[in-house]
Amino acid sequence: MRKAVIAGNWKMNKTVSEAVELICELKKLVFDVTDTEIVVAPPFLAIYRVAQEAKGSNIRISAQDIFWEEKGAYTGAVSPMMLSDVGCKYTIVGHSERRQYFGETDETVNRKIRAALGQGLAPIFCVGEVIEQRESGETFSVIETQVRKGLSGLSPPEMKDLIVAYEPVWAIGTGKTATGEQAEEVHAFIRGLLKEVSQGTADNTRILYGGSVNPDNVDGLMAKPNIDGALVGGASLKAEDFARIVKYKR
Ligand code: 13P
Repeated sequence: MRKAVIAGNWKMNKTVSEAVELICELKKLVFDVTDTEIVVAPPFLAIYRVAQEAKGSNIRISAQDIFWEEKGAYTGAVSPMMLSDVGCKYTIVGHSERRQYFGETDETVNRKIRAALGQGLAPIFCVGEVIEQRESGETFSVIETQVRKGLSGLSPPEMKDLIVAYEPVWAIGTGKTATGEQAEEVHAFIRGLLKEVSQGTADNTRILYGGSVNPDNVDGLMAKPNIDGALVGGASLKAEDFARIVKYKR
C-alpha cells in the first residue's frame, strides 16, 4: 500500500511571520491525521522557523528547489546539506515555474535529484506538459522525455525515496483541473516508465497530481488507483482548505 502524500507548495508567498501563523493554524487542524504524509514547502527564508514550529507534529518540511553542490562559490544557491540542517526531509525539483522562469532543464533537474537523494532528501520530481503539447497529442512523449532524462542514471535503490508529481502546466493556477481520467492515464503511464527501472520500486513510488487541486475536486482525484497524493499551490495557503485536502474522503 502506498501511503498518500499531500504536499503544499507555498511558492513565493508568506513572510516569515505569516508562514509561522499558517503552520500553527495547520498543525491544529490536522494533528489527528495518521494515514497521510503531510508536507509543506515554505519559501527558503521561512523554512527554519516553520520547521521549528512543526517539530514533534505530523507535518514534514520540504524545500521548493535545491542546488546540487554541497558548498562553495555559487551565489544565491542553497545546498542539500543546508536544507537538511534546517529540518527539510523533501525538496521539490523541476517545478514547471523553475523550468519556465529560471532556465531549469532536464539535465539540471537530474543533477538536483541525485544531489537531494545523496543527502537523504526525498525529491518531489515535477513533470508536465504545456497546453500546446497536450493539444497536439504530445503529452506522453513530453512526459516520457522528462521522466527518462530527469531520472537518468538512478539505480532502483536510489529510486526508493523518489516522489513524482504530474503537474500539467495548463492546470497550474488556472482553476482548470485535469479530470480524474486525464490525470490517471498519465499517472499510469509514468508508473509504467518507472517499472522499466524496477518493477518493485515503481509499485511503491508515490505519484502526486498537481494543478488547481482544491477541497472540491480532491476526493475524485484521490479515488483514482494511480493518484497517490496531491501537490497543492494556491489552496495550500489557507489552512482550512489545505486541511480539508489532507482529510480527503476515502
Ligand atoms: P495550484 O494548486 O495553485 O494550481 O498550483 C499547483 C502547483 O504548481 C503546485 O506545485
